[in-house]
Amino acid sequence: MRVEYGGDPDLDESWLAGGWEPLLREWIEAATAAGIAEPNAMVLATVEITSAGPRPAARTVLCKGLSPEGVTFYTNYESGKGLQLAATPYAAATFVWPALHRQVGLRGPVSPVPPEVTAIYWRSRPRNSQLGAWASQQSRPIAGRDQLDRALAEVTRRFADVEQIPVPAGWGGFLLRPEQVEFWQGRRSRLHNRIRMTLDPGSTEPSAAKIERLQP
Ligand SMILES: Cc1cc2nc3c(=O)[nH]c(=O)nc-3n(C[C@H](O)[C@H](O)[C@H](O)COP(=O)(O)O)c2cc1C
Repeated sequence: MRVEYGGDPDLDESWLAGGWEPLLREWIEAATAAGIAEPNAMVLATVEITSAGPRPAARTVLCKGLSPEGVTFYTNYESGKGLQLAATPYAAATFVWPALHRQVGLRGPVSPVPPEVTAIYWRSRPRNSQLGAWASQQSRPIAGRDQLDRALAEVTRRFADVEQIPVPAGWGGFLLRPEQVEFWQGRRSRLHNRIRMTLDPGSTEPSAAKIERLQP
């Protein structure tokens, strides 16, 4: 199970001269070109405030928007993560492509995207996914699979004559605006490359960010 990393040119500070976004985009494109399934998948960690205190929660979502402002994902605002982000609007998101020996982690504040942005993405989704979003009250318990199938059959009937299915209330995008982004590249002898970019809160200019190398 022990993999020896190396081979690619060494990731260094200069790779971030143009900012974190072009490099993340390049790594997602490299993962796509390598035939990796769901190259835009990221593990999203949030904080749940429980009666026993704050607790971490993590799950995978797909990054559906990438810009110098941040990364966008879509979900149900009343799901576990949706409620957690409403109470504690900060998250960490980690992309990992083990086959390429690469990982990128971002963390920062999260806010809902404007409804117009959600609407544009919603229209690009296949009809079946739209019906699924209507049928599921994400993260709520349900008695059995058959109840879910009935809910889908019901919304399918309801929208049978509707060409453009509307966005369900409580469904939409979140934008994570990174305060910090760390790029990781596996290297020989476990002396991996880690470069961390700490962004200036007032600027998306790469030159305003602090770039540091971290020990592996
Ligand atoms: C590869 C993959 C991609 C996923 N993408 C999304 C997504 O984009 N949005 C989403 O709400 N759930 C997505 N899920 C499901 C979530 O991991 C999770 O089960 C669901 O959102 C409920 O999480 P929560 O109860 O913590 O809110 C994905 C799961 C996998 C394995």
